[in-house]
Amino acid sequence: MQIDVFATADDVKVEKIRGKVAIVIDAFRATSTVITALWNGCKGVIPAYDIEQAKAKAIQLPPGQYLLGGERNAVMIEGFDLGNSPLEYRSKEIIGKYVILTTTNGTKALHHGSSASKVITAGFLNGEAVVEHILKNSFQDIVIICAGTEGNFSMEDILCAGKIINDLLNKTKDMQCNDLAVAAQNLYQNNKRDMEGLLRRTYHYNKLVSLGFKQDIDYCLQEDICPIIPLFANGVIVPAG
Ligand code: MLT
Repeated sequence: MQIDVFATADDVKVEKIRGKVAIVIDAFRATSTVITALWNGCKGVIPAYDIEQAKAKAIQLPPGQYLLGGERNAVMIEGFDLGNSPLEYRSKEIIGKYVILTTTNGTKALHHGSSASKVITAGFLNGEAVVEHILKNSFQDIVIICAGTEGNFSMEDILCAGKIINDLLNKTKDMQCNDLAVAAQNLYQNNKRDMEGLLRRTYHYNKLVSLGFKQDIDYCLQEDICPIIPLFANGVIVPAG
């Protein structure tokens, strides 16, 4: 098995991911929001590249069957139903509905991954399930696309990539990694008992705390509480059957 990690969505070039399985991570918070929504009964998450595309997709669905969610600068978009706090997506309101989601980095990273043969959405919340899915399906060529924050490397995404690689290494020795995958696995292994100790010194963590979203961080850092595989295909993310 070959695993390559990319630090930001902008680093992903089509020729590097074509024919491979892409695992997209935006641990704070977009992919954690997707995982939570699907785990709590949302029918499907439709990732939109920007606000205009989100509104255009909404027009194509019957009223009452969708909710508009997302953020700009981490704050809920005016006129939308929900923000990008995964905690909001545990409400009964989302059951049986589509969520059209647009976020600054996460939903863009999903679109950047869409030339892969398969696109899976991951976070700390479903890391173990993703590892099981990779092994069960004998995937051989995997790219982990970290969304990053505002075009830059983001520590929480690399830590989460490291968790997935670390769990895989515990179960199979048949694995080659690019240098960033090796770094991610080391980073996770050395910090897994106190990830927050490291994250407290980082940009996105502090931005979310300053905006009052510390509870989201606590939630997103929980490992393996949503055993679900969100698959992005034909414009919509749904749980793998
Ligand atoms: C994003 O997609 O940029 C993030 O999920 C930002 C956020 O924390 O809301």
